[in-house]
Amino acid sequence: MARISGLRTLLILTTLLPLTALSYSVLNQTSAAIACSYLESTLGTRVFLPSEVSYQSSSKGNWVQTAWASPTCVVQPKTTRQVSQAIRYLTQSGVHFAIRSGGHSPAPFGANINDGVLFDMSGFNSVEYDAQLGVAVVGTGMRWGSVYRHLDQYNVTVVGGRILEVGVGGLTLGSGLSYLSDLYGLACDNVENFEVVLADGTIVNANKHSHADLWWALKGGANNFGVVTRFTLSTYPTGNVWGGYRVYALDAIPALFDALLAYQSVAVKDPYANLMMQAFPLNGTLGVLLNMVYNKPMETPAAFAPFYGIPAIADTVHIQPMTDFLASQIPPSLPRINWYATSFKTDATLFKAVEKIVTGTSAELDTIRNLTAGSIAVGWQPISTSAITAGRTWFVLDVGWWNAEDDAVANEAAASLIAKVEEAAKNYGQHVDYIFMNDAAVQQDVIGHYGNGNVAKLREVQRRYDPREVFQKLVPGGFKLPPEV
Ligand SMILES: *[C@@H]1O[C@H](CO)[C@@H](O)[C@H](O)[C@H]1NC(C)=O
Ligand SMILES: *[C@@H]1O[C@H](CO)[C@@H](O)[C@H](O)[C@H]1NC(C)=O
Ligand SMILES: *[C@@H]1O[C@H](CO)[C@@H](O)[C@H](O)[C@H]1NC(C)=O
Ligand SMILES: *[C@@H]1O[C@H](CO)[C@@H](O)[C@H](O)[C@H]1NC(C)=O
Repeated sequence: MARISGLRTLLILTTLLPLTALSYSVLNQTSAAIACSYLESTLGTRVFLPSEVSYQSSSKGNWVQTAWASPTCVVQPKTTRQVSQAIRYLTQSGVHFAIRSGGHSPAPFGANINDGVLFDMSGFNSVEYDAQLGVAVVGTGMRWGSVYRHLDQYNVTVVGGRILEVGVGGLTLGSGLSYLSDLYGLACDNVENFEVVLADGTIVNANKHSHADLWWALKGGANNFGVVTRFTLSTYPTGNVWGGYRVYALDAIPALFDALLAYQSVAVKDPYANLMMQAFPLNGTLGVLLNMVYNKPMETPAAFAPFYGIPAIADTVHIQPMTDFLASQIPPSLPRINWYATSFKTDATLFKAVEKIVTGTSAELDTIRNLTAGSIAVGWQPISTSAITAGRTWFVLDVGWWNAEDDAVANEAAASLIAKVEEAAKNYGQHVDYIFMNDAAVQQDVIGHYGNGNVAKLREVQRRYDPREVFQKLVPGGFKLPPEV
């Protein structure tokens, strides 16, 4: 710390110069500590150093411990101009950084960093509804719960997260699955405008008419192109829904898998019906959780008929406002979590095989069971092809555990289980070559699976907006653009 304060005097001289006048060669090689002092004295917003109390809460502001880190400092900008100034400086200085909106990803370093600057975007916390245009302008640091509650007064909503604590920026840039997706597409499909700070500090608006290439690239482009500060989102009418969750004992799993198969096998899926099933095969207390919602105030719709005959232990499904339904969702809570995603088609033989992999006996399940608080959650998300070409089942395997010493073992066991599921899907000819980013492990090459044509196009956009690859090289975390093949 002494070193940083010592440098502060020296930096006052530097701050008198306009940024553009700073010599590139002087700034290149700058250490993160010098960068932090510089930002603190010039930016006019809060910069937290490790000695400060706020640093502790912010550096550990990510949802689970696996994503906590020790940034050199945390910058909490409040205006796009501050982001622009900071990014321009870090780019010129060659200093590493990370960007966090809500920080709900468990991926280490996706939204945090060691030896570098963490942008805590929680200061971008406004939401403005424009009834005339039918849009909401939402700050990247907002949590979906606050967005929905604000919009509820106008009886409108946006296509956003299913868990209210999740942040707007990460979910939307990762593509974003919503209980409205079968009706209106993914969260990213509903972005009319991105306000973005580019690598050189330029602020641009990317939309259908202006920077349309960047607008396209940011839909699932994660942190590869710039720092998005605000999203303009399409709004839709909302009101009461029939929704809640049902809890089942573990021995209902075979019946529930049969019901999933029947629910997904219909020729034309009712887009108002949505569900997410989570089974906890290693924890009989938790059993199976079925979150279901019908996006109209209508009881027991036919779409969920395959589930109605299976006896539940608990049942909260009733007619209630959409936001109240969302508030009742139970996210898992363990200090350390990772998750892996894969996708496959609807097929009876494959469903049985997956059931066996996640509930049967295997070295991987034994390994996880042996860890302190070791558990898995098997998430089943039926996505209709009306929402996305790569629809069907977006499968997610969560693994949770307690101790940092177990990170490698837990990750390895989870990777091995998802590989078995993927192999089964391929063997039965049912694999869908798509990995849903928001549910993916950082070990998975999500963008590589967008297809070679898309990767080439994304690289073209990167060359146009970030020719020096700042967001590839100075932002090491998250899902990166793969090299072109
Ligand atoms: C730093 O300077 C070197 C040599 O001039 C250059 O090759 C490199 O790209 C610079 N790094 C950054 C991050 O600007
Ligand atoms: C929202 O819906 C409720 C219930 O239908 C209605 O009473 C209220 O006037 C609506 N508010 C607005 C702003 O449209
Ligand atoms: C199962 O989950 C419950 C509720 O989260 C927890 O209290 C319990 O310790 C878990 N049991 C095992 C064996 O993991
Ligand atoms: C799990 O723990 C038991 C008891 O300590 C041990 O015998 C067994 O080998 C362990 N299994 C795995 C897969 O780690």
